[in-house]
Amino acid sequence: MKHIVIASVLVVIVTVLVILGLTSVDLVPQLASEEGELVDQLFIWQVYVIAFIFSLIVVFVLYSAVVFRRRPGDDSDGEHVRGNVPLEIAWTIIPLIVVLGFGVVSARDLNDMMTSDPDQLVVEVTGFQFGWNFAYPQHDVTSSELYLPVGRQTLFRITSLDVIHSFWVPEFRIKQDAVPGRWTELMVTPSTTGDFRIRCAELCGYAHAAMYAPVVVVEPEDFEAWLTGQEVEVPGSGELTPAQQGEQLSQNSGCLSCHSVDGSAMVGPTWQGLYGSERQMSDGATVTADEEYLRTAILDPQSQIVEGFDPIMPAAYTGLSDEDLAAIIEYIKSLAP
Ligand code: CUA
Repeated sequence: MKHIVIASVLVVIVTVLVILGLTSVDLVPQLASEEGELVDQLFIWQVYVIAFIFSLIVVFVLYSAVVFRRRPGDDSDGEHVRGNVPLEIAWTIIPLIVVLGFGVVSARDLNDMMTSDPDQLVVEVTGFQFGWNFAYPQHDVTSSELYLPVGRQTLFRITSLDVIHSFWVPEFRIKQDAVPGRWTELMVTPSTTGDFRIRCAELCGYAHAAMYAPVVVVEPEDFEAWLTGQEVEVPGSGELTPAQQGEQLSQNSGCLSCHSVDGSAMVGPTWQGLYGSERQMSDGATVTADEEYLRTAILDPQSQIVEGFDPIMPAAYTGLSDEDLAAIIEYIKSLAP
C-alpha cells in the first residue's frame, strides 16, 4: 500500500511536469481560424491524457526497477503472480471510455465545422505538380495567391490536375486532400488578418516540399478592393499584350514554381535569356531554343532533357489552347538576358 501511494504521488508530479514542459514549447503555430479553436481544445486535452499515460507507465517501470531490484546475496525466486481480474477490467474499460469520449467530441466538432453559412465565399482550389491555383467563381477571378476576407466563412472546393495533393494551412489547423477527378470540400472562417502559407501535406513528387502558395487574409473592404483590381486584369480581356497574358498564365499554371525569370536556378531551367539560346541536351545534342523547341518542351517535356536537369516536368500542359501556348511562348521571348 505504501508503494502504491508513493508511486501515485510521483505519477501526479511527473504528469504536471510533462504538461508544463509540453505547453511551454509552442507545439502548434499561431491560430488563425474559428474552426481551429475546436481543434486546439481537443489537441490540448489529448496532450493532458498523453502526459498522464506517459507518466503512469514511466513512473511505475522506474519505481519497480529501483525499489524492487535484487539485493546482493538474494537468490530466492520472485513471487508468483497469476493475473489480477479487477485490474485487467479497469485497464480495458477506462481507455475504452477515454477513446470513445474523444470520438464523440471529435464527431460533434466535425459537425460544427461542416455547418455552412449562406453568405459563404466559394473558392475553387486546384493543386498540381507543383503549385496551387485559386478561382473565385462568384466573381470571375483567378489568382495564384489566396486572398480571403477575415471573419467570413469560405467554402473551398478542392481538386487536382495530376496526383493527390493535400491543401493545408497550418494556422487554419484543418486540411483536405486534393484528388484528381473529384471535388473535396473544406470550410474555414479566418479569424485574424495576416500572411500565411499553404503547404502541400501529401508526398506528391520531386518538388513536394516546395509546393507553397501565399495566403493573405485581409479586412472585408480590402478584399473587395483586391477583387475589383483582379477583375480588370482577367487574361483575354483584350487589354493585355500576348506576353502579359503569358505572364499571368505562367503564374496561374504553376510554371513559375519551377522556372525562374531572373536567371536563378530552380527545379527547372530559368526562362531568362532562354529564347534563341543554344541548349545543351543530356544526350549530347545541341538545340537552338526557337519557338518550335519551346512548344515541344511544354507539350512533351520528356522528349528533350536539358543537361543538368532531371526529367521531372509533368506532361500536364497538353490541355493548353494554341492561343495560351503562344502567349506563354511570347512571354518567354520577352525575357531577354
Ligand atoms: Cu503536392 Cu505534395
